[in-house]
Amino acid sequence: MRKAFNGRSVSRFIKLRLVLAGALAIHTSLSAARSIDTGRHRVITAEVIMLPAPRTSGTVSVEEALHKRYSVREFRSAPISLKDVSQLLWAAQGITHEDRLRTAPSAGAIYPLELYLVAGDVLNLPAGIYHYLPERHRLAVIRRGDFRADLAAAAMRQEWLKDSAAILVFAAVEQRTKAKYDSRGPGYVRMEVGHAAQNALLQAVALGLGGTPVGAFEEEWTAQVLGLAADEKVLYLVPVGKPPRAK
Ligand SMILES: Cc1cc2nc3c(=O)[nH]c(=O)nc-3n(C[C@H](O)[C@H](O)[C@H](O)COP(=O)(O)O)c2cc1C
Repeated sequence: MRKAFNGRSVSRFIKLRLVLAGALAIHTSLSAARSIDTGRHRVITAEVIMLPAPRTSGTVSVEEALHKRYSVREFRSAPISLKDVSQLLWAAQGITHEDRLRTAPSAGAIYPLELYLVAGDVLNLPAGIYHYLPERHRLAVIRRGDFRADLAAAAMRQEWLKDSAAILVFAAVEQRTKAKYDSRGPGYVRMEVGHAAQNALLQAVALGLGGTPVGAFEEEWTAQVLGLAADEKVLYLVPVGKPPRAK
């Protein structure tokens, strides 16, 4: 026998309509969400993360950071803060002057470097791949998920990369510098990535963190993990995290 269309089924029917209307509203607002072009990727504005403002003074001198720096390949299983991530990215490629000059020098102030963050264990930042936007000191979400193991595999199976809290990935659009400096361009770009990576390594020391520059990786595989555009080349990886406590 057919069930009577009673009060309970009416309220269920109304609830279902409300759920469907809600789903439609979410779908519409997502499709209407504004997207921005980061210069490399098109991402919806909801996927851009504001970073805490970087500080421009600290308690560790340059001399002390230089003295204490060494390559750290063992990390405590502890998250690093978003503030630390913000500071590391700024140290590597942040804007320092109104005329858009950066923390690291660049031949002809052309800035061919593009900086990515592979986050795994960062407080208040979901695991994922992010693109650093120096002009606005923000992160654009490229991919969600933990890709540290994929990078470790692409880096000639250097398993220790998986234990870092996050990995800075320095890429470059060589053509930017080549357009002005021709055959000297690629050499300049490689010099620049050394400047930027060393900034990040010294900043890590000043924050009580540790890291290692990694040059052993398969270029195409690494670029694939990151989802890079065809004109971008990966040049250097810098895994960072909390070093083991001194014994
Ligand atoms: C261009 C370059 C590439 C490197 N690649 C790797 C690497 O793939 N894996 C690694 O564990 N260390 C790598 N290193 C770190 C060196 O092994 C390390 O700097 C060296 O052993 C000196 O030790 P220190 O950094 O503690 O002073 C690299 C260093 C440089 C400069």
